[in-house]
Amino acid sequence: MWKHRHLLGISELSRDEILLLLSSAERWFAVTREQARDARPLLGRTVVNLFFESSTRTRTSFEVAGKRLGADVVNVSPQTSSVTKGETLLDTVKNLEALRADAIVLRHSASGAPAHVAAQTHTSIVNAGDGAHEHPTQALLDAFTIRAAKKRLEGLVVAICGDILHSRVARSNALLLGALGVEVRLTGPRTLMPREAAALGPTVRVMGRLEEALEGADVVMMLRIQNERLAGAMLSSTREYARTFGLSAAMLARARADAIVMHPGPINRGVEIDPRIADGERSVILDQVEAGVAVRMAVLEHVVRAGDAARASA
Ligand code: CP
Repeated sequence: MWKHRHLLGISELSRDEILLLLSSAERWFAVTREQARDARPLLGRTVVNLFFESSTRTRTSFEVAGKRLGADVVNVSPQTSSVTKGETLLDTVKNLEALRADAIVLRHSASGAPAHVAAQTHTSIVNAGDGAHEHPTQALLDAFTIRAAKKRLEGLVVAICGDILHSRVARSNALLLGALGVEVRLTGPRTLMPREAAALGPTVRVMGRLEEALEGADVVMMLRIQNERLAGAMLSSTREYARTFGLSAAMLARARADAIVMHPGPINRGVEIDPRIADGERSVILDQVEAGVAVRMAVLEHVVRAGDAARASA
């Protein structure tokens, strides 16, 4: 059923393919929790992490995921690679392909960079976040976490709040959750809301005020202001932002009493979220991190197998 040699974005996945990845991740989650780590489908294979932007969660969890599957995982840092001497992204990928890498996990500031190299390599490319475009494994782990907490996805209301304009997380989540019948509410300052936001899916609604978006929500997903993409310059002040779009106890009271609170990280405490909520009993932020390993195990397993099948039939 799974045919994709690469994972470039949620936009290329069908509903059934998303559900397949989520159920594979559930299997790996259980295996990991039970410490039953005998199954090593990627034993002897090589996964390369190639991150051109900073990362704590994604890079580390891909490394843990690859190792739990039995793969050798190599981390290439652009700062200490020949990229600093002018080598292009494609040449770097071609060289990793020549080393017989089975999968390259790529994070890049340019939207479309993973798709660009995927078209020109036999190695599986996994998008670990490209510019403001997509972060597919984040959306998958978010859906996994929501389903684990709520026991369903269809019919839920998820409010995604903050810097939507620069957020690949918001974009991938809107596509994925929309495909699974979730009502997605996007809210944030007007300057940080893309004009085409409502076009992300038939269940996506854009709302101007946080209060409105949180009303009766099952899930509250807060996002960070992406200052590295100059988002801070598009706000009047951080204090004003925290007052109008920060998640306080009073704001959270508008959501359902059993609403869960999510954040992809890294958190800017006291800006988009009150630290007491981030660390509180309704927060599933660290559950998201744990789910990331199982989701990435599922993704690596599927794309490497699809790469094997493509090579066998070539
Ligand atoms: N959520 C996420 O992508 O975090 P990192 O930037 O730490 O990988």
